[in-house]
Amino acid sequence: MPGVVTVNTNPYEGQKPGTSGLRKKVKVFVQENYTENFIQAILDSNKDSLAGSTLVVGGDGRYLVKETVDKIIKISAANGVGKLLVGQNGILSTPAVSCLIRKYKALGGIVLTASHNPGGIDNDFGIKFNCANGGPAPDANTNQIYAITTTINQYKIVPDIVCDITKLGVSNYEVGGNKFTVEVIDSVNDYVAYMKEIFDFAQIKTLIQGSGQRKPFNVLIDSMNGVTGPYVKRIFIDELGAKEANVRRIIPLEDFGGAHPDPNLTYAADLVNAVKAGDYDFGAAFDGDGDRNMIIGRGAFFVTPSDSLAVLANHLHHIPYFQRTGVKGFARSMPTAAAVDRVAAATGNEMFEVPTGWKYFGNLMDAGRLSLCGEESFGTGSDHIREKDGLWAALAWLSVLAAKGQGVEDILKAHWAQFGRNYFTRYDYEECASDPCNEMMQVLEKTITSPGFVGSSHSSGDKTYVVKEADNFSYMDPIDQSVAMKQGLRIIFEDGSRIVLRLSGTGSSGATVRLYIDSYEAKNVLGDAQVMLKPLIDVALQLSRLQHYTGRDAPTVIT
Ligand code: G6P
Ligand code: ZN
Repeated sequence: MPGVVTVNTNPYEGQKPGTSGLRKKVKVFVQENYTENFIQAILDSNKDSLAGSTLVVGGDGRYLVKETVDKIIKISAANGVGKLLVGQNGILSTPAVSCLIRKYKALGGIVLTASHNPGGIDNDFGIKFNCANGGPAPDANTNQIYAITTTINQYKIVPDIVCDITKLGVSNYEVGGNKFTVEVIDSVNDYVAYMKEIFDFAQIKTLIQGSGQRKPFNVLIDSMNGVTGPYVKRIFIDELGAKEANVRRIIPLEDFGGAHPDPNLTYAADLVNAVKAGDYDFGAAFDGDGDRNMIIGRGAFFVTPSDSLAVLANHLHHIPYFQRTGVKGFARSMPTAAAVDRVAAATGNEMFEVPTGWKYFGNLMDAGRLSLCGEESFGTGSDHIREKDGLWAALAWLSVLAAKGQGVEDILKAHWAQFGRNYFTRYDYEECASDPCNEMMQVLEKTITSPGFVGSSHSSGDKTYVVKEADNFSYMDPIDQSVAMKQGLRIIFEDGSRIVLRLSGTGSSGATVRLYIDSYEAKNVLGDAQVMLKPLIDVALQLSRLQHYTGRDAPTVIT
């Protein structure tokens, strides 16, 4: 009978979960007891509910996932967890973890991912805890985990447990008189079954394969060597009848084949170029752990995530799941352009604006007030689970395209004609030095909250903007009244245009500055976003003195 060993340890500084879990370089995680400490802290933060509980464990296939699954098995066994549901080979997409937690009523899940950050021995790894509702742990829980990591002096482990996670099956162990079970499950079965309940697969299959009157709708789906590969294969090839040529990079690799698995115009340029050059009607890419998506149409027509959310909101009734549940309300993160707000107003739905981070949607969903939400950071999802869901978004788009019999660009143009257009762009300045960026944010906050700033005019070229409101965004959750402060600086002008600036919470080193710009046009809807937004961008750069503080004269990524 394998025995529990208590190991003495010392706290590590900086084990504070960010927007989405603890994310650091691999070399940080491989320090002695670093990972063990954090896993023990997660379990300790749940210690009253651990006895006999079930946890879901899996990750995006990046370097260190398998080794960490092994540590989680051994530490869970020692802490009285009843059962682990582990994805085969440690593979589970983030949306699949959320789906499994809910389906099997688990206490929570441990997701091993650094999402869209590059992987491999020299890159990033991450550990995130999700709660019983299937969503990322809320701030109160992550703060508690962090507090534990600052004083931890012991962890418990059963070093002798051997569990082969390459094979499906159930292993039972006796640990200190308790039963401990590890069930290695198929990584995709439950998730795919759920997608088949949500969507009309027969309708999407007819779209993709073509029918008497309609030629096949040619898709190109790019998993960027991330976790979605096996899900894409099962859904698109086995279920929806797409061909091998319709999918790419579907083998999860520990270093994502060197790709930066973030589905945007810069890092998914391969897909964009392939769709531009080829005879494709639709392209989609997903990030490392499968929760983000990018959607493009024929000729690589780009759908901004903010517009994607608005279009889906306007067409949700084409999706069987929402025909059953009804539509309960919409939400977006604060920096996301307000296109969906117009759909909410037109359809009489409640609309919420939350801080950046998917965890802020969970309470609204649990309270039955939110059906569909999204973020400018390429996240779209619904209350079917409590994470954003890349494949779900692609299937939702295909459902709408099938129902409308239109292409992506036509749908967008019709949308803008009806609602007007929120032009949007985001500039990222990645891996800058932290201190000057923090100083920039402090100075700017002071500027925009000083008396006289509201009402002041700011010009670039022949455009002048008058400040209507400016603050550091804070949010009170309408369900549990919890408050999140300092969620980003925003300057809102009289005409509704906005400048938003915040520091990324998902980087693993240095600071990444994000500058978000959006501006609404009722009639002039077919312009180029970069051209339309240039004056506001100039105003933002002047006000923040961003180039001075970051030393950068151009962003690393523009979306
Ligand atoms: C993760 C979260 C998203 C959030 C994003 C923001 O992807 O799941 O909900 O929008 O991080 O990242 P940032 O780097 O801007 O903090
Ligand atoms: Zn992700």
